[in-house]
Amino acid sequence: MMTKQILQMNPDELKSALSSGSVTICVIGIGRIGLPTALSFANSGLFTIGLDINSELVKNVNSGIYPLKDEPEYDKIFEKVILEKKFIATTNIEESVSKADVVLLSLPTPIDSNNIPDYSALCLVGSQLSEYLQEGSLVIVESTIEPGFVENELIQIIENSKNNLHVEKTFGIGVCPETANPGEIMVDFTKLPRLVAGINEKITELIYEIYHFVFPVELIKMPNCKTANAVKLTTNVFRDVNIAFVNELSIFFEKLGIDTFTVLEAAKSKYNFQVHYPGAGVGGPCLPVNSYQLLNSAKTLGDDSMLSIIKTSRKVNEHMPDHVIKLVQNVFSESNRDLSTATIMILGISYKPNVKDIQLTPAEPIIKKLRSLGVKVKIFDPFYKNKKVFDITVENDLFENLSECDGLVIVTNHTEFSSINLEMISSKMKFPIVIDSRGLIQKDDAKKAGLVFRGLGQ
Ligand SMILES: NC(=O)c1ccc[n+]([C@@H]2O[C@H](COP(=O)([O-])OP(=O)(O)OC[C@H]3O[C@@H](n4cnc5c(N)ncnc54)[C@H](O)[C@@H]3O)[C@@H](O)[C@H]2O)c1
Repeated sequence: MMTKQILQMNPDELKSALSSGSVTICVIGIGRIGLPTALSFANSGLFTIGLDINSELVKNVNSGIYPLKDEPEYDKIFEKVILEKKFIATTNIEESVSKADVVLLSLPTPIDSNNIPDYSALCLVGSQLSEYLQEGSLVIVESTIEPGFVENELIQIIENSKNNLHVEKTFGIGVCPETANPGEIMVDFTKLPRLVAGINEKITELIYEIYHFVFPVELIKMPNCKTANAVKLTTNVFRDVNIAFVNELSIFFEKLGIDTFTVLEAAKSKYNFQVHYPGAGVGGPCLPVNSYQLLNSAKTLGDDSMLSIIKTSRKVNEHMPDHVIKLVQNVFSESNRDLSTATIMILGISYKPNVKDIQLTPAEPIIKKLRSLGVKVKIFDPFYKNKKVFDITVENDLFENLSECDGLVIVTNHTEFSSINLEMISSKMKFPIVIDSRGLIQKDDAKKAGLVFRGLGQ
């Protein structure tokens, strides 16, 4: 228990409070990002409460069941902090927030079916904070938000309470936008620089000290929250736009008979070229969402014509599943095979390699379209074995099921697929059509193995 409110401390006082372990943390939203974050705080000796509305997750965590199987290393920290009683999970917001000196928000910020950003979780929790926040505590938003969301919306929601909370006077607020990559959170939490910003300079300093105590990484102080959030969005939208560029090039190069991957490999030798790869589409909880967040900010400003490059990039990336379907249709037609009676195996459904995550995955529109064409779809993905996904039970073994398949489409390049035996695939399949949307297979290797092959961008 601290004798002085965190907001009243100077950075040196906060440093010693952190070192003595007397600062209590509450992380709201203990999902993909929030759980490793909470575990990092607990592992640095600070009592940490993980709050989530998912009661099954909370129950599992408190029973010692580590939920993020594809997030290595954190399982050990999880066991350690649970054993040391430095970390507990709860669904009770009143109990957890009223005990906390620092409240971190790691809540989802998805888009709805019309691609409009959905900040309802942050708004709901904001209104709950206004009831339960301890006076003098600090709120830090790690969720990815549009520039200005803290300044123009969240503060007002928290202040709009019977408790008469006032930013800078009775509570502090700031951001530390999360930039970690799913599947690599341990590496990113120990290597990636983080941005910190508060609603004023003093709060920026306090947030700096808190993160400096927990994470051994470079911390970059930003002039304000909106600039920090703009950086986060810029880095991800940069990727979305550049992937759209190579996706468009890859369709163009297919027509010219040029192999996109050979082009990219050589282009990498130029010092100022940063490589991005083409594929079946761009999914996940970040890249597509972040592009729509910036587009929403432009719309809010009343100028829909701004950021046209992002709009075009989204269109290009959202078209890629259709292009994969076109490759499938072409190769079936050239092989005189009837697609409407075919069985096709989808290899990989995660939105990116080596993670168990299908949020906005391009596999979904590809599967939907194939089914609408009459195709019987099978799935193999090591992260979803025997699970029902998109109404299909994922196979337990790839090779056992190939004898029924007259087509195989690689959608996700999980590392385990890179050593796949092409001869075996060719010999097991009913008809050996393979479509590779990720540049996993070289044309010559496919030919040698006897595959009827199409490679996106090849
Ligand atoms: N996953 C990523 O790759 C990644 C990377 C960087 C940043 N981010 C950002 O981090 C934020 C969190 O993303 P995530 O991937 O961890 O999401 P997630 O869906 O894995 O976790 C969010 C958690 O919040 C909980 N939750 C939802 N509403 C709640 C409420 N009202 N009260 C308490 N808990 C609630 C959910 O049950 C869930 O466990 C998002 O803004 C996301 O954009 C994500």
